[in-house]
Amino acid sequence: MEYTLITGATSGIGRALAIEFAKRRHHLILASRNTVKMQEYQKEWLAKYGITVVCLTIDLSSPGAPEKLFAACQDKTVSVLVNNSGFGLGAARQTEQDLAETDRLFQLNAGAVLKLSMLFGREMQKRKHGYILNVASTAAFQPLPYAAVYGASKAFVLSLSEAMHMELKDSGVGVTALCPGITDTNFFQYGKPRVPGFLYKLVSPELTARRAVKALYQKKIYLVPYFQHWLIAQISRWLTRRAAASLLHHIEIFRKRVR
Ligand SMILES: NC(=O)c1ccc[n+]([C@@H]2O[C@H](COP(=O)([O-])OP(=O)(O)OC[C@H]3O[C@@H](n4cnc5c(N)ncnc54)[C@H](OP(=O)(O)O)[C@@H]3O)[C@@H](O)[C@H]2O)c1
Repeated sequence: MEYTLITGATSGIGRALAIEFAKRRHHLILASRNTVKMQEYQKEWLAKYGITVVCLTIDLSSPGAPEKLFAACQDKTVSVLVNNSGFGLGAARQTEQDLAETDRLFQLNAGAVLKLSMLFGREMQKRKHGYILNVASTAAFQPLPYAAVYGASKAFVLSLSEAMHMELKDSGVGVTALCPGITDTNFFQYGKPRVPGFLYKLVSPELTARRAVKALYQKKIYLVPYFQHWLIAQISRWLTRRAAASLLHHIEIFRKRVR
């Protein structure tokens, strides 16, 4: 039996992705911290889609967690890996962020993605079949003053995924970076971004997930799932690196003023 492993499927984009795969009758392995939520979805999706859902409770920001998750899946064939778990910190200068929280963020958003892509990627390469979907962000395309380590972690995920896409494309393994813009999830625990809607639309996780799964099966190298977000992400390509960083710095200063 083949499985799709999704990290962080208890809410937002991960949950919407899990439902997309469930609709395609994929058996699922869910890995996150909220056991109660995972068990709730296990029952719901068994009844609705007739699929097997395995729940693995794990904090992927803790040392050795990706290796433990890989070991827990050794008796199963994982043909799709979705590295989705991630979080951001409140807006502040990096020097003012909490060191331990920053470390957790880096381990989850970057470290776990790297290790799981390597461990499961190796198995897929041996089988000459598989798909890896790594959730980056439009934050990956330029530095993000006042969310510096979040932006850096997503730039890492995008760069890693694009490189692995090329390395594995002749081995039958697809690697796709998903780069959502602002999406309506629990991500904004520090408050929804106050960006005018006409400038930056809040997109539903369901639309993001539908387009992401399509892109994964088309073996696209990356996807920004919403056109307006893609267009805005292109701006930094036409600027010098200094100008892109400076623009984002001034946007954040402006947002602080209008809050
Ligand atoms: N929302 C946006 O605007 C946006 C834009 C671009 C990219 N993204 C990215 O999309 C991904 C999903 O975020 P979301 O927007 O769907 O936010 P969300 O609703 O907060 O979902 C985050 C998921 O990550 C899991 N998670 C958090 N910490 C974890 C940990 N230590 N170990 C294992 N799992 C953990 C959570 O599950 P538990 O709490 O059960 O552990 C939850 O299922 C993230 O990588 C985020 O950076 C979001």
